[in-house]
Amino acid sequence: MQPMDPNQIQLNQEGRLKHFLTTEGLSKEILTEIIETANSFISTQERSVKTVPILRGKTVVNLFFENSTRTRSTFELAAKRLSANILNLDIARSATSKGETLMDTLWNLESMYSDMFVVRHADSGAAHFIAQHITPNVAVINAGDGRHAHPTQAMLDMLTIHREKGSFENISVAIVGDILHSRVARSQIYALKTLGCNDVRVIGPNTLIPKDIESLGVRAFNNMKQGLKGVNVVIMLRLQKERMQTALLPSESEYYRLYGLTTESLAYAEPDAIVMHPGPINRGVEIESAVADGPQSVILKQVSNGIPMRMAVMAMAMGGQNQEQTLSEQEEAK
Ligand code: CP
Repeated sequence: MQPMDPNQIQLNQEGRLKHFLTTEGLSKEILTEIIETANSFISTQERSVKTVPILRGKTVVNLFFENSTRTRSTFELAAKRLSANILNLDIARSATSKGETLMDTLWNLESMYSDMFVVRHADSGAAHFIAQHITPNVAVINAGDGRHAHPTQAMLDMLTIHREKGSFENISVAIVGDILHSRVARSQIYALKTLGCNDVRVIGPNTLIPKDIESLGVRAFNNMKQGLKGVNVVIMLRLQKERMQTALLPSESEYYRLYGLTTESLAYAEPDAIVMHPGPINRGVEIESAVADGPQSVILKQVSNGIPMRMAVMAMAMGGQNQEQTLSEQEEAK
């Protein structure tokens, strides 16, 4: 069976975002609009009153079936700053732990007149599945599904790169580490390529780089010196040991020696290169503290940018749902 085109699910009949499930297949226009909308929310975050009434009266449910610090808390703050009501479901105490299925949990929450679900799940495709089965006019935002996608992380990274480097053309970006298990890397690669970045590289041991990665238009390197040469942006990734079924590395110390970002290895990149990491960071495993806390690091700026970016995605998806509802009501009235 052919996998369904994600845009058949995440766009409405007018081509507007109504769910946000993946960066794959989204047009340059939509990705640019997401960045511009997030940029417009940055100024609201610098005011003493940070709320805007865009989602007033709407109910957003945070459904995190996997642990999270940054994504869950910035979605909560973003929803509050859009004036929405937010419900954080405590999965460990919910009926899911008594065997209730995912869809039964969702249908029950939907019956409480929820307008949006923010979902993190260990299974790839969970957010797509929910979006396909949920009642019309309820938006689904993917907050990370298995190894598949983490589109809001990728877009807050695009916002950060855009603000730091000005554009995506004429820059080189290296993504370093555990590409194989990374939903973030996949979502970043789709977004970077669509936004016009012609030089995207991945760096890591062969065991942590998918065999077909170059089909996405990126170049693969096994050597930090060669891979980082002349890059403007270095994105470090965590080793996702929880997703490794077999030993894919000789040892952590050997990995750090070969692929850790240290003051010494960062010198292979351009002198004004920025250092990024989606978090959580593992100091001394993939990144040296001096680099993580150093002048080239924008890791905490990424976290700050998570709020306006999540505000943008929620506002746009709700707008797309409202537009679809209006169009179907007009259709019914004919
Ligand atoms: N980057 C990221 O998804 O972090 P959390 O797991 O803390 O949400």
